[in-house]
Formats: sequence, structure tokens, C-alpha cells
Amino acid sequence: MAQKLAAGNWKMNGTEASLAEIDAMIAAYPEPGCGVLICPPATLLERMSRRIGRGPIATGAQDCHMNAKGAHTGDISAEMIRDAGGAYVILGHSERRTDHGETNEIVNAKTQAAIGAGLVAVVCVGETLDERDAGETLDLVGSQLAGSIPDGVTGDNLVVAYEPVWAIGTGRIPTMEQIIEVHDFMRARLVERFGAETGNAVSLLYGGSVKPSNAAEIFAVENVDGALVGGASLKAADFGAIIDALQNS
Ligand code: 13P
Repeated sequence: MAQKLAAGNWKMNGTEASLAEIDAMIAAYPEPGCGVLICPPATLLERMSRRIGRGPIATGAQDCHMNAKGAHTGDISAEMIRDAGGAYVILGHSERRTDHGETNEIVNAKTQAAIGAGLVAVVCVGETLDERDAGETLDLVGSQLAGSIPDGVTGDNLVVAYEPVWAIGTGRIPTMEQIIEVHDFMRARLVERFGAETGNAVSLLYGGSVKPSNAAEIFAVENVDGALVGGASLKAADFGAIIDALQNS
């Protein structure tokens, strides 16, 4: 069985003052009934990890380089994320694929680097509105899964997030039928490639405009094991309501 995970992606948001939200989350969820992860900007990762200590919330980064070290100005390695207290790294987010030209091959190499350093890779896939309108969603998601995920992964070092690009930050979410279709497809592809034990153990997150008001409905979908949340993860009250919905699902 895949672990339930409520994951927050703070993107390029957050400074020292934002750590108060973490204090509030720890106070509200000393022993959450699901995994809870926050991926702050790299500047906050170590501070946030120290603040949480052995607490109930895991931390992670939003990207890593594919190499362990070297002349790569501005980049951070998977090992550095571990060193800063992070346990996870988001890879292949659509904003990285768009802003930084990340291909499936690059995401694959980064995923190998992350897993090699002992991190859990949260690999993101998802179609644009043009691709959906052209009926290409499953083909696109299938090729992103095939290309971005390396061989040899397990349910302990891989999480997959389905984030339709058109649902990110827009307030639009797919219909439940559309979420069911893509998540069932992803589960089938993972089982086909990695076998039933591993394929069923990988947590499948939905991401894109998840809010307290729609979380319960999304978490009721069979192959949705949690969410990757952007805007609503920045405030403890909103993210807490999403954690509640997941615990109760
Ligand atoms: P929003 O929840 O703000 O739509 O962002 C989703 C996302 O991109 C998480 O990675």
C-alpha cells in the first residue's frame, strides 16, 4: 500500500517570518495520520529542518543538480539537500520544465542523483491545456513517466505527482473522472514496469489548485494517495485543513 502524503511546494515564497507557519503546523499536528512534507525554497531548507528537528514534518527541496558537485554556479546537489536536513526533492515540476528547459532525460538523471544520495524523488508529470484538448494527455503522461523515472526505483524512494499544467495556480481542477483516468493509468504503467509490489507502493499525488474546499473529494479517488500543494501550503490553517482531509480519507 502506498503511503498517504500531504506535500507542500512553497516555490519561490518564504523568508524567516514564514517559519511561524511551521511552528503552527507542528503544534496542530504533533502526530499526523499521514506523511507531511514541506519543500521550502533552498534558502530556508536548513533553517526549517532544524526548526522541525525530529518533529512530524519532513522537509525537501524543489530541484537538485544531476551531478554530485562541481562547477555549476547557482545549483545545489542532492547531497547538499541531505546535508541541509532534507529527505525529499521535487523533480521535473512543470515550472522547471518550462522555465529551465528540463527534459525527461534531465529529470531522469536528477532522479538517479537524488535516489543515489538517499533522497525520495517526487517526480512531476502533467499535460498542458493544448495537449489535453488534442487528446494527448495519456500519451504525454506515459512518455513523461517512461522517460523521467529511472530503472530500479522502489516505493521508498519514488513519489509521482500528476500536475496538469492548466490546473496549477489557476483555481481550475480537472473533473474527478479526469483525475481517476490519469491516476489509474499511472498506477497501471508503474505496475507494468516495476511489478505489482513496487508499482502499488509508489505514492501518487494529485497537484494543481488543491484547496481545503476540494481536498476531500480528490482524496476519495482510489489511486490518489495525497496532494502536492502550492499556494494553499503557505498558510498553516489551509494546509492543516488539507492534512485533515487526507487523514480522514
Ligand atoms: P497550486 O496548488 O498553487 O495550484 O500549485 C500546485 C503546484 O504546482 C504544486 O507543485
